[in-house]
Formats: sequence, C-alpha cells, structure tokens
Amino acid sequence: MSDRTPFIRIEAGSKIYGGVHAIEGVDFDLYPGEVHALVGENGAGKSTLCKAIAGAIPLTSGRYFVEGRQVRFARPGDALKAGISMVYQESSLVPTMTVGQNIELGAEKLINSFRQLNIKAQQQLQSLSFHVEPSALVSTLGTAQRQMVEIARAANQKARAIIFDEPTASLTPEEIVHFFQLIRDLRDQGIAIVFISHALEEALQISDRITVLRDGRKVITAAAASLSREQLVHHMVGRDVTKAPATARAVPIDGRPREKVLSVENLTMGEIVKNMSFTLYAGEVVAIAGLIGSGRTETAKVICGAFKRNLINGGHVYLRGRPVRYRTPTQAIDDGIVYITEDRKINGFFETMTIEENIYLGRLATRLGYRWLTKASERRRIAGALMDRLKVRTLSRNAKVIELSGGNQQKVVVAKSLVQEPSVIFFDEPTRGVDVGAIPEIHQVIRQLASEGKAVVVISSYLPEVLVVADRILVARQGRIVEEFDAADATEAGIMFAAIH
Ligand SMILES: Nc1ncnc2c1ncn2[C@@H]1O[C@H](COP(=O)(O)OP(=O)(O)OP(=O)(O)O)[C@@H](O)[C@H]1O
Ligand SMILES: [Mg+2]
Repeated sequence: MSDRTPFIRIEAGSKIYGGVHAIEGVDFDLYPGEVHALVGENGAGKSTLCKAIAGAIPLTSGRYFVEGRQVRFARPGDALKAGISMVYQESSLVPTMTVGQNIELGAEKLINSFRQLNIKAQQQLQSLSFHVEPSALVSTLGTAQRQMVEIARAANQKARAIIFDEPTASLTPEEIVHFFQLIRDLRDQGIAIVFISHALEEALQISDRITVLRDGRKVITAAAASLSREQLVHHMVGRDVTKAPATARAVPIDGRPREKVLSVENLTMGEIVKNMSFTLYAGEVVAIAGLIGSGRTETAKVICGAFKRNLINGGHVYLRGRPVRYRTPTQAIDDGIVYITEDRKINGFFETMTIEENIYLGRLATRLGYRWLTKASERRRIAGALMDRLKVRTLSRNAKVIELSGGNQQKVVVAKSLVQEPSVIFFDEPTRGVDVGAIPEIHQVIRQLASEGKAVVVISSYLPEVLVVADRILVARQGRIVEEFDAADATEAGIMFAAIH
C-alpha cells in the first residue's frame, strides 16, 4: 500500500486534556478502498483519534494530511466538505426531527417535500435492510434503531472516508450481516473506512488492516490476516489474558427453600409484552436471552416504573408477595428495585457532573439517601471504591462523566445504581461497549451481587455472556418467556433455537 498516497494520514498526533495525553504521538493512515479497524481497551484513545480525523476536535500537536496535503479542520463541517464523515459512538441525531430528516441532514441537496424526503430515506434504509419508519421521530426510537439511522445518514452523505465508532454494538447478528455487506460495498466503491469495535472477531473478519491503541499510543498496525484474536488481546492489554476465571455459582443450600423475591404474572403491554411470567429468587442471576424486539427491555422498564403504568394492560408484579405497580423509577428504587440501562445517554446520568457527584446523586435518589454521609471525604471514599471495583479509567480524578470514554461511562451507570443498594437489579446489556479485558470484571460484580443475596437479572443478546454469568436462563420471544434452561444444561444452539422458533 505504501506506493500509494493515503487518503488520510496523521503524523505524531497528540491530544491533551487537562495536561494529560488522551492520545500521544500516534501515526495513522487510511487508504481508499480499505477497511481499517481500530481496537483497544476502554479509554485507549480510539474515539479521540477519530474525532480529530473528523474535525470534531483539534489535535494538540501533530500533522494531518488529506491526499498528501496538510489540513487543519476547525469544524466537522470542514471535514465533511473534504469528504470525511463520522458515525459517533454517542448518538448525534436530532431527537425532535424525523428519521428521514436526520438522514438528509448534512447531505448535499436540500429536499423540501416531506414525501420525497421520506421516500428517499425509505430507499436508503431498505437498501441496508434496516427496519425503521422514515416518518418516526428519532426520540421514539430505541438504541439499535438510532444506530441504523446514523449509519444510513453516513452512507447518504456520499463521503470518501467514513468512520464508524462502534456501529455494531446494538445491532442484532442479522443486522450486522447487512451492515458488513454495506461496508464491503462502500469499500468496493473505493471509500476508505475506519471501523471501531470491541468485538475482535468482527474486526478480524471485516478489516484489511488493524491498528491497536493502548493508553493513547499506537502499539501496532498490521494486516488483519496476520493477526489472531489472542495476539490482538495481547497488544491491547500488554500482557496475556487468561480466560475469565470460572465464576462461582450460587450453591443451593440443601433443605432451605429459596426466597422468592419478585414474581411477574402475565404482564402485558400492548403488542410488545404479552403474558410475560417469571420468578426471581434471592441469590441467583437470571439471564433473559432473546432477539431484539422480544420485549425484554420493555418488560424490565415496566417492572421498574420507567414506563407509565397506564401502559400496562394486564398482569401483576409481586415483590415478596406484595402486589406492586410503580409509576416512576424512584418508587421502584425506594423498594430496592433498579434498572441499569443499556442506553446511558438517555437515562443514565448527569453528564456535566463528575463521577463522584453522579454516584452521590444516585444515592440521594433513594428514600434513605438523605441519611447518607455527606462528608466529602466519605463520598470520595465510597465513589473511589466503586470506581476501583469496576475499573473505571479516567485521565483526571475529577473528570466529568462526559469526558469519559464510552465504555467507562457505561461503568459509571452501573456504579450509580449499585450505590443505591438495591435488592433486585435488572442489567440491560451490561457489557455493551465494554472492552474484552473489563467484561470479566463486570461479570464478577454481577456474580458478587448474587452471592450477597440479591436477585439479579441480566438482559443480554450476547450468548457467551448469558452462559458465563447466569444460573438460570429464560428465553423471550415475541413478548413472552418461551423456554427456561438451567445454566448447566444450556447451549448457545439451544438458546438460539428457542429464541427463533
Ligand atoms: N472531552 C474530554 N475531556 C477530558 N478527557 C477526555 C475527553 N474526551 C476523552 N477524554 C479522555 O481521553 C481518554 C481516551 O478516551 P476515548 O474516548 O478516546 O477512548 P476510547 O478508546 O474511545 O474508549 P471506549 O472504548 O471506552 O469508547 C480517556 O481517558 C477519556 O477519559
Ligand atoms: Mg470510544
């Protein structure tokens, strides 16, 4: 490739925040018709490098070339004019506009008629096999659908280089197949692609070259074909990672009945949740597997008061035998039930506050929160302990949440809920966006909660996660539980079969 001029070239790129390097001395190049994957742990600097390429932030030092000519982009609009487009990790859509309007944003031609705009958006979405209604308001969409709109918009901008920052995180396996087809089509048209993912198998499968970042520095750039998954992990973390330690499962105590904590009976909400029934016991982790759209998230949200209760058409929820129906998440939290969301941007935290403040606010939101020690030193100690436990990495101790990398923000969402000392916890895709090294840590936290006697639910579309973390596995399909497995007898194939048939 070296005999050609790269479309994009960064030389000794550095970005400093508050005196600390987010990236340091990074060389990176990207050729037309190449898929270049960028991998690394949470906070390694992947998004920072890409934001600099896309003109969203300026480099502190270093040189930036487009087609051999040195450039300095002041705004994303400038980069877009040079043919560089980015799909951000955090949604950049305008929630109050429709899907069609968002897809047209930033495209060259202005279309005035809604009808025409929707037809065009429909064609774009259909060509990607994404099922999203062009006239829907973005604010009504879930994470996966927002991601699809972002991808369709980038494809619509006719860019010469497109950067995808974790585009596949909330797509289903089937949607990922379509997305990869799009990537290959774009590559065949000579478009240069940057692809960030924590799924190393994906990076190895789709990319021509892979660059690994660690602690803001480039470790290696090499042909994907020359790397194995193990080598990638080694480059990412700087040491060999042994397989996750076998997590201790709850040991059934002979003769003693298990404490039934929460039972859900025939819960129904519109077409999405239909006669959902299951029971949670203290001290166990129950995973709910299933396809996106199987009603898992909605069920958890209904139980935890995140949906208005008049949306519930039927069914009952009992907490230790007492019927409950929450109108707001606060009411559920007061009873010790928390929902830890997959969508940290929407209902995760106050992003302009520090980690410590967010954790403190999480605690204050509970009924007994006011009794919590308000001494700054105590607050710091508790926040610090949680951050250690979850391995949150920041450049500065007092970083605002918005300054954290995507994966580290996810960990703060978890910390904020854990400080509420719940007895029933719903985790919705808890390791989405979390790097391979930190995933076992989160699993350990989940197992630990169960061994402390809590009832834990893990909603996950990632079957290896389901198998490693759960004692019991429920499979949801079309709004109800269709199958239950003991973790010891479950296989990926068995779960998949139940989820589809
Ligand atoms: N606006 C900012 N202010 C201060 N620090 C920042 C800012 N943006 C990023 N950082 C810091 O720079 C480092 C690199 O972050 P970056 O978002 O590039 O990581 P990443 O590799 O994309 O991680 P992830 O996989 O979690 O998304 C992190 O330590 C992060 O906290
Ligand atoms: Mg990132």
